[in-house]
Amino acid sequence: MSELITARLASYFPGRWDRHYVPAKLRSDPLYGAVYDELRTSDLPLLDLGCGLGLLALYLRESGLHFPIHGLDYDQRKIDGARCAVTQGAYKGLRFDHHDARLGLPEHFGNVTILDILQFFDPAEQETLLKLAAERVAPGGKLVIRSGLRDQSWRFKITVAGDVLAKVTNWMKAGPGHYPTAEDFQRILSSFGKVRITPLWGGTPFNNHLVVLER
Ligand SMILES: C[S@@+](CC[C@H](N)C(=O)[O-])C[C@H]1O[C@@H](n2cnc3c(N)ncnc32)[C@H](O)[C@@H]1O
Repeated sequence: MSELITARLASYFPGRWDRHYVPAKLRSDPLYGAVYDELRTSDLPLLDLGCGLGLLALYLRESGLHFPIHGLDYDQRKIDGARCAVTQGAYKGLRFDHHDARLGLPEHFGNVTILDILQFFDPAEQETLLKLAAERVAPGGKLVIRSGLRDQSWRFKITVAGDVLAKVTNWMKAGPGHYPTAEDFQRILSSFGKVRITPLWGGTPFNNHLVVLER
């Protein structure tokens, strides 16, 4: 994504912090490009759980994908920021609502994304969320997850430290709780379809992986 577009996206957000964060995040994180690659041939609606500022939705729109996107997050400040960006950019088919994903999920039939939020859930909550999300994936659709994986690597230790820092600086409302293992994803999701797990840390020191369930 060009510097011109990231600068324009940043200008849509009301807060000074977000206007610095948005271009830096879009520039440095391989996440949004990787999700684009997974969804670019689909026209199914997308449910984005823990959408934050709605960066995935904005990235996909700016990259030419036009399916409807519904983002949910329990941080009202971020939902307000995402809604402001939609108004400023006059985007169509993007909706953002305040919702705690621990309280269940709305009806949906399409693709689902869960990006960098599972660490805030305990093991039972993770399993419930993953199953609810998988049930909402249409045949031919995908559940695309990014998560730090719990393992013995130095990357895993840095991942935990980064999430603790996000809590201490109040960027996140909650500190990290539990990180799933690769085996957890296989155990919970493989009855729904094919599960694929690949590293997705790009230039970062984090132990991030992309987990894709194809129904
Ligand atoms: C690290 S951010 C990722 C934001 C976004 N998915 C992205 O990748 O750009 C994690 C997000 O999950 C949200 N979150 C954490 N627990 C949640 C819950 N129980 N329900 C809804 N959102 C939650 C946080 O408010 C935060 O916006």
